[in-house]
Amino acid sequence: TDRYCVFGHPVGHSKSPAIHAAFAEQTGERIEYTAIEAPLDDFAGAWRAFVAEGGRGANVTVPFKEEAFRLCDTLSGRALRAGAVNTLILGGNALSNAFKVYGDTTDGVGLVRDLERNGVALTGARVLVLGAGGAVRGVLEPLLAAEPASVLVSNRTAARANTLAEDFRDLGMIHGGGFGAVQGPYDLVINGTSASLAGDLPPLPDELFADGATAHDMMYGAEPTVFLRWAAERGARPLDGLGMLVEQAAESFFQWRGKRPDTAPVLEALRRSL
Ligand code: ATR
Repeated sequence: TDRYCVFGHPVGHSKSPAIHAAFAEQTGERIEYTAIEAPLDDFAGAWRAFVAEGGRGANVTVPFKEEAFRLCDTLSGRALRAGAVNTLILGGNALSNAFKVYGDTTDGVGLVRDLERNGVALTGARVLVLGAGGAVRGVLEPLLAAEPASVLVSNRTAARANTLAEDFRDLGMIHGGGFGAVQGPYDLVINGTSASLAGDLPPLPDELFADGATAHDMMYGAEPTVFLRWAAERGARPLDGLGMLVEQAAESFFQWRGKRPDTAPVLEALRRSL
């Protein structure tokens, strides 16, 4: 049985063990997947200990994604762009003990897959992304690869959005600005701020959404987030972050096991359990 885990702090609330157990059962892969709370001051030590005990790979969540990035020997292009890693893969030769650590970030692919699964057209879309933190940086490359007409990254701190947009400018039509730079209508608005956690809503104009627009919140919960409720009241189709969570997990699973699980039944079961 190959061992995998998710590292976080805290990590007790993580849904990843249940998701990967469902993927394993579905695909007939014999794996064990647990949640490990790494100490805040020694993520690298926790990873090394896990590898010494036979760990083959791991997911990494808050607050260790940047640290995970730093300990990798090799990085995927999208992880390099993101400056963060949510998937660690142990490669190399077990006999010679010459392990190499490969890092990837699957959040952006997860977001794009979830949008596609829900029939959201990305190509040619006018996209607004709210927030300019790590969560947003992690999804911009796959988002731009889908060739939207334009992406505006809008953030409470405008300078942060400008820097972020600058870092991705070679990949497509992307601009940064403060909330004042928002000028609808948009076909897709993605909330990547942590404002929802506090029940806050960024100051947004009422006429934000185009006809048939989608509002996506990277957060999720038993109840719709403040942002999604606000968006639904203005005619947008609300999508929360649960689908993205399951899709990023499926991509990690694929990186480790070479098999693509069917995400729909896993998402349904997870939704019922909220
Ligand atoms: P993460 O890794 O989740 O992206 P982060 O890097 O701390 O975390 O970024 C949090 C994001 O949420 C930032 O874009 C932050 O805006 P600032 O850059 O101006 O701090 C945004 N954010 C957090 N609380 C917010 C609030 N109450 N209203 C609007 N934006 C908020």
